[in-house]
Amino acid sequence: MSKKDKKYKLGDILLFIWSYVKKHKGIFYLTVFFGLFISLVESISPYVYGQVIDYFSGKDIIFNLSVPHLLLFWSIFVIISIFIRRVMARIIVLLEVKVEKDFVLDIVTNVLYVPVKYYYDHKPGEAFKKIDRAANSISMIIDSILFSFMGNLFSIIMSLIIMFRLDWRLSLINLVVIFVFFIFAVTFRMKKILAIRKKVNRQYNRLFGNIGDFLSNIFTVKTNTNEKFESQRVNRGFKKIINLTDDSMKLWTQVSLGQGLISWSGILSTVLLGAYFLSQGIISTGNFVSFLIYLDIIYRPLWFMTNQYRGIKRMIVDIGDAREMMQEKKETFWFGEGDIEELRGEIEFKNVSFKYPDRDLGVLKNVSFKVKAGETLAIFGETGSGKTTIYNLLLRMYDHDQGQILFDGFDSRKINRQSLRSQMAVVPQDSSLFNETIENNIRYGRQEATKAEIIEAAKIANAHDFIKALPKSYKTKVGERGVKLSGGQVQRIAIARAALRNPKILILDEATTSLDQKTKFEVLGALNQVIADRTTIIITHDFSAITQNADHIIVLDKGKIVQQGKHSQLVKESGPYRDLWQTQQKHLQ
Ligand SMILES: Nc1ncnc2c1ncn2[C@@H]1O[C@H](COP(=O)(O)OP(=O)(O)O)[C@@H](O)[C@H]1O
Ligand SMILES: [Mg+2]
Repeated sequence: MSKKDKKYKLGDILLFIWSYVKKHKGIFYLTVFFGLFISLVESISPYVYGQVIDYFSGKDIIFNLSVPHLLLFWSIFVIISIFIRRVMARIIVLLEVKVEKDFVLDIVTNVLYVPVKYYYDHKPGEAFKKIDRAANSISMIIDSILFSFMGNLFSIIMSLIIMFRLDWRLSLINLVVIFVFFIFAVTFRMKKILAIRKKVNRQYNRLFGNIGDFLSNIFTVKTNTNEKFESQRVNRGFKKIINLTDDSMKLWTQVSLGQGLISWSGILSTVLLGAYFLSQGIISTGNFVSFLIYLDIIYRPLWFMTNQYRGIKRMIVDIGDAREMMQEKKETFWFGEGDIEELRGEIEFKNVSFKYPDRDLGVLKNVSFKVKAGETLAIFGETGSGKTTIYNLLLRMYDHDQGQILFDGFDSRKINRQSLRSQMAVVPQDSSLFNETIENNIRYGRQEATKAEIIEAAKIANAHDFIKALPKSYKTKVGERGVKLSGGQVQRIAIARAALRNPKILILDEATTSLDQKTKFEVLGALNQVIADRTTIIITHDFSAITQNADHIIVLDKGKIVQQGKHSQLVKESGPYRDLWQTQQKHLQ
């Protein structure tokens, strides 16, 4: 069996669900017990009714009880079972929510720890839809198994036992019919229906992936006047789902038709043969009536159960999909060894080469440089030359293929990623803010920071004044992705967030590239304060006081270092650095 099929194996997934349910064993066994009690009462009832009928035709004592006593006794049982049913409903719902919580938490926790690459390969909306669907399915499976599947199965077995007591010939016929019904119901057209379900799920994932995508890029949608395109795309997606669902419903109709014919053959033969037995005195009226009620007790749940079985198979597909996310590998070296207390901040690249996992092209080739603790390194280079890749490697978002990256002389591969990142702060080109208050956005740098520390960080980042001028000051909510603030303001909040981390190593990846000249200088001014006393890596195209004073500059071209040294040196030698410098000087004049 291929890995793909195994993902959806019934037994496998049921065991998986059980691993969650068994944390609440007490509730589970209680519901099983209640369920059995209810089924017992239900399946004995028709027998009691039959006995009452026969009592009026002369029979008197059953179970050593007179019939009136039996009825009284029985009524008590029935009332208790009604009460239990209510209690059961309540505790099952609670159980479902608890299991759902554990399940969603497990997925979410895992997904938070998987490497960033996962997010380049998957759309968030898609992941969201998967989690949502699986969470629903897991509740529904627990509900159907606990609430009805087990009870129905037990009712059927109990009823069959009593039926055999009443008349073995009629029972035998029904046993055979039930068997045929069951086999038919769990196999006929099953594969096709499941295949469609998988397609429907994929379609839903894609659809919601797209919806998530355009919702987070709504500005681009509008500027390109693609509202209609997007809504039509959703429409088309749904049309496919509707067609697939229709195909699946056609198959279902065939299944139901077959089930109907099989069960009807059982009922018809029982009625005919039973009526004949009654006329011949082989069976009493009471027993015959009981038998007819049992037919109903058996065939109704049988339909129900087999449909449920199919439903469960379908939901298994949903859970299998989501479980995959749970098994997605986490970043290694997260917990445990390799913790570092505090770095001094020395960084060294020794012949580092790297290519992204899914690409053949080498992105960095034999890159070597060294930054002493507290120094500033500036990295220049054209778009695509590998600058951001260096930053990805420093943060261990990816691991380099060859060479060594050393922090204070320690091999980066031996340092726990989380403790490494906790020593760093980054300001990317387009910082993303959460749709939250400014205060919370800055606090994201260090959750336990006090309000005073946040204000302090904002002051260092030159952000305090404009924040104060906002309607609700630090409590102002920024829009989705910071759209209510200007680019320069967003960057300064990002700088405040970085400053709050008080990192040993600060990395600025084109933090000013997307800003206009005036704002650029404001932000660079803000940076000047933050970089003091820390190792700083500034990736940029812009010449500024920071880069001119940088302790070391490297120039990248297609993944290789083509020039390095100090500004005063580099402007003298011919090469890309001087070219760029001269072009910018001309522009400024
Ligand atoms: N996550 C990624 N997966 C695969 N390839 C990538 C990824 N990020 C960047 N690249 C590729 O690596 C090369 C260098 O990119 P990058 O380091 O971002 O350049 P820069 O920051 O200098 O503009 C480019 O060819 C780019 O297409
Ligand atoms: Mg870049």
